[in-house]
Amino acid sequence: MRPHLPASPRSRSPASGALDAVDLESFASQLEDLRARALADVATADDPAELDDVDSSYLGRKGELRTLLGGIGQLAAEDRPKVGALANPIREELEAAVAARRARLLEIALEVRLARERVDVTLPGRAMPRGSLHPLIETQGEIARIFGQFGFVTYESPEVETDELNFQALNIPADHPARDLWDTLYVAGTDRHWALRTHTSPGQIRIMRETAPPIRALLPGRCYRYEAVDASHGFEFFQAEGLMVDEGTTMAHLRGLLDEFAHGMFGPQTGTRFRPGYYPFTEPSVAFDISCTICGGVGCPACKRTGWLTILGAGMVHPVVLTNGGLDPERYQGFAFGMGIDRITMLRHGIPDIRALLDNDMRFMEKF
Ligand code: PHE
Repeated sequence: MRPHLPASPRSRSPASGALDAVDLESFASQLEDLRARALADVATADDPAELDDVDSSYLGRKGELRTLLGGIGQLAAEDRPKVGALANPIREELEAAVAARRARLLEIALEVRLARERVDVTLPGRAMPRGSLHPLIETQGEIARIFGQFGFVTYESPEVETDELNFQALNIPADHPARDLWDTLYVAGTDRHWALRTHTSPGQIRIMRETAPPIRALLPGRCYRYEAVDASHGFEFFQAEGLMVDEGTTMAHLRGLLDEFAHGMFGPQTGTRFRPGYYPFTEPSVAFDISCTICGGVGCPACKRTGWLTILGAGMVHPVVLTNGGLDPERYQGFAFGMGIDRITMLRHGIPDIRALLDNDMRFMEKF
């Protein structure tokens, strides 16, 4: 912006400014000079603030035009209206020029902004990949849905457990040979007090201690064992524990419920059977088999030619375990079962290797 020196007020400097214009002609030429300078300044004002300065320096209360007109008293009385007639159109012209310039500056600002923020709508969009549930979680949900129909409520139980809940309360004392079944990962520095749970069964104790019968609980979640990893063993895997405790609960209830589960999960044509089994925390204990999902029971490599696949362990809750859960075994009976969610998932989808489930290879995961 060019520096601007307003013309001096008449009272202070009679020798300059307005008082130079002592006749009409000189008034007219000063007006014309002011007009030309003002138009030039308006035209070159580059931003609104600069335009404001130009505006007030020419047209403002202390601006040049007013100052010049302040000298009107110097003129002969009959000339004064003529000055007004000269000055008014100039004022209007300048006001219009300022307004037009202001509008133009806004336009320019918008153009600059549009150019800077220009979006090329012809560029290809970025695809938003659509996620889906992991097959293990989806299977877990399906298990919960089926047992939910029979009143089983899903609970969460901790993955880091005490040795007491993971083993001792489940009738597996410290020196019991059954501990060989669970090669355990202990938490370092806790002197084998804390372990990563080797199964979801400690949740049975937690539920019994926290909830009064009747109990119908489903406890899904991640478990850990110190395993040599191969196609059917992972050091982390998923189980779903079921627990029912009430007065008069029998093995027949267990059998009927597991049949419903097998049919709901694998179809109504699925055959089922109980085999004797052994777990320290159930008595009697069983293994629950379904007819082979690959060959339908005829015998194939998947079922080692037996026609059957074992999908879970189960049994009547051992009286010692009921007692450890704070319940009277004379009054209450219960059954429990534990299944591998990985195995159920592999059977449902024909996945041959358990490692594929946690490898997070998107090419594999996207198949589901
Ligand atoms: N906890 C057992 C396992 O990990 C499964 C099981 C649960 C068996 C409940 C009987 C009753 O193999």
